[in-house]
Amino acid sequence: MSIFGFLATVKLGEATSGGGFWMPEGASTVAAEVDEVFYFINNINYFFFALCTFVLVYFAIKYRLKPNHHSGFSHDAPTHNTPLELTWSIVPLFLVGVMFWLGMDGYLRLNESPEDAYPVSVTGQKWSWTFQHPEYGVTEAGELTVPLGRPVRLLMTSSDVLHSLFIPAFRVKNDVVPGRYSSLWFEATRPGQYRLYCSEYCGKDHSKMLAVVNVLPEEEFQAQLGKLAREYEDIEDRDLPVYALTRLYNRCASCHSLDGKSGTGPSFKGLWERTKNGTTAFTDGSTLADYMRPGGEFEVPENYIRDSILNPQHYIVQNYLGAMPTFKGQLKERQIDALVLMIKNMDRLVDEQGNPIESPDLGDADISTGAGQ
Ligand code: CUA
Repeated sequence: MSIFGFLATVKLGEATSGGGFWMPEGASTVAAEVDEVFYFINNINYFFFALCTFVLVYFAIKYRLKPNHHSGFSHDAPTHNTPLELTWSIVPLFLVGVMFWLGMDGYLRLNESPEDAYPVSVTGQKWSWTFQHPEYGVTEAGELTVPLGRPVRLLMTSSDVLHSLFIPAFRVKNDVVPGRYSSLWFEATRPGQYRLYCSEYCGKDHSKMLAVVNVLPEEEFQAQLGKLAREYEDIEDRDLPVYALTRLYNRCASCHSLDGKSGTGPSFKGLWERTKNGTTAFTDGSTLADYMRPGGEFEVPENYIRDSILNPQHYIVQNYLGAMPTFKGQLKERQIDALVLMIKNMDRLVDEQGNPIESPDLGDADISTGAGQ
């Protein structure tokens, strides 16, 4: 074992499989290597911290000004020591050179994803993550399902500001930038659920911009994606509101509450009443009722909800900033129907405090979506 290999494995009593005080247990193919570089650099730091502190304290005591000892500079004291100066220049130069090489080598390999990697498109927006699986036509939000033991490549972009996608257990992180694509790849080595964070401050609810990575063995993965692909097609119209609340609302949740509290956007509580009655007021002073006359834009009130999801900048509700991104292309027609029905039946789905009611009674619910009218 080389001295570097040795330094990398000395972890002050921690296991070499990763995890411990500094990091969560590794769960990807690159985790062990990233940890080695980290511990290598960290152990060098411990060594020099101890050495410098020791020399500092030792000299401070040894050469302190003693009583009855006249102070003054001795003119024949040495001003240079060439071997000493060469040592303290060349040894650190060599060490930082090795650190750079180890870091750069790993960085380059982390940047180049294997050819056959499973593709996922990622969109970051204030304040949620959306994951699209082009091979299955599936969109997930707040949860990313990936196969075990197969490289996965995330092609990422942002629809508003700078975000950063970080999965600590996989030891991978990259910026998610509006107007361009960045990418990231990993190969999970252990099934289970892992936290995914936004690690770039992106506004008020940055700390809530979380998701879960769900690593499944290949067969379970394919079954799960197949199920997700058919999910909203197979569902009965009557079950669409519950589907929207349990599967889609998490993309709205950071801005639209269910308990009546104002967030970045208006609460969903009472939204349908305000819509149906046309009492919603907009920043330009008009109210929804102005557009609901026969022949008006929203003759059918459901279409106002639909329009707000697809063109959120169109009509901005008074006292709000219009921070919502469009969901055009991210939701299938039937999913938009489901959201409209969820909003229409909200008082049957959640209680006064906004908590979901278990098996809500939607027997006589209004399940017309206003589509095609
Ligand atoms: Cu997105 Cu912080």
